[in-house]
Amino acid sequence: MTERARVVRVRKHGGPQVLSLEQVELEPPGPGEVRVVHTAIGLNYIDVYFRTGLYPVPELPFVPGLEAAGVVEALGEGVEGLAVGDRVAYASRPLGAYCDARNYPAERLVRLPDGISDEDAAALMLKGMTAEYLLRRTVSVEAGDAILVHAAAGGVGTLLCQWGAHLSATVIGTVGSEEKAEEARASGCTHVVHYRDENVAERVKALTDGAGVRVVYDSVGRDTLESSLDSLAPRGTLVAFGQSSGPPAPIELSELASRGSLFVTRPSLFDYIATRDELLASAASLFEVVGAGAVKAHIGQRYPLGDVAEAHTALERRATRGATLLAPG
Ligand SMILES: NC(=O)c1ccc[n+]([C@@H]2O[C@H](COP(=O)([O-])OP(=O)(O)OC[C@H]3O[C@@H](n4cnc5c(N)ncnc54)[C@H](OP(=O)(O)O)[C@@H]3O)[C@@H](O)[C@H]2O)c1
Repeated sequence: MTERARVVRVRKHGGPQVLSLEQVELEPPGPGEVRVVHTAIGLNYIDVYFRTGLYPVPELPFVPGLEAAGVVEALGEGVEGLAVGDRVAYASRPLGAYCDARNYPAERLVRLPDGISDEDAAALMLKGMTAEYLLRRTVSVEAGDAILVHAAAGGVGTLLCQWGAHLSATVIGTVGSEEKAEEARASGCTHVVHYRDENVAERVKALTDGAGVRVVYDSVGRDTLESSLDSLAPRGTLVAFGQSSGPPAPIELSELASRGSLFVTRPSLFDYIATRDELLASAASLFEVVGAGAVKAHIGQRYPLGDVAEAHTALERRATRGATLLAPG
């Protein structure tokens, strides 16, 4: 069994430079745990929030990362339903995915179907299950709905757009550059808005014959909140699920009435895959649309685990497209 592994550790909160590669000894897996040897690790914007301290971590130092794929190398006491050699993936706490190998709770692992590669799994698990619950459970998007997806060329964005198009919604995507506009169109956006140069709400109203959209998926936060609210049709829903540009301003409840009886929710994936049944159902829906070819992983960039600081810098500078992977050694 693997006895040593490289981990990326954060000893104090700060910029990407606080991510440092270290060697650790691995304990055998404890009761209910399995040893997973990673083959691909997913980078997510939430990793930045833990690194900076915007989101609290259980303790310092800590190893970031919530998503990876790999192979089961050993089983702890009491683990059932998994075997050595199984291909698995995860997208949940506990933190610690930035490493070559680790012990992980068996009940939060999902076995990978043959048709899904390890890299695709690491690119899809967290972002794809997010797209699943946002489109099907936070709101149930129906054929013919118009939806607005901010950061449409991003990790979650490319999946939301593909899955939204698969549900026969009219998908309007916002992007920060012309290259990203291509990406958004390839992901199923019917219309693309350049939110750095254009008035988003005016464009959305023009594209929807003045009606506005039924749902806005807003992962950008501070910079987009106002235009998101302005883009909604009466009784529409703002799904504020991220804050890549910073935390959004508070919303006065009375404003929701004056803007047309709007709904606002601030959901988190971890509340939608809290039980094992929910986790398995969400992953199964994801594997189904991927297996059918309706949704594809879009891996925009790969970095060796040791270059993780570079990967965080690119993500924060809006220089990435689609999903970013870290390669363990
Ligand atoms: N609530 C949940 O359940 C949940 C689950 C997963 C992810 N999320 C959230 O969803 C968001 C997207 O995550 P992701 O990993 O897929 O990242 P991502 O969208 O691939 O990367 C962030 C993108 O946001 C856009 N952006 C706009 N303003 C920005 C700014 N000031 N700084 C940085 N980026 C800016 C950029 O695209 P442009 O250049 O096109 O503007 C950038 O590429 C994050 O906020 C994340 O926390 C939430």
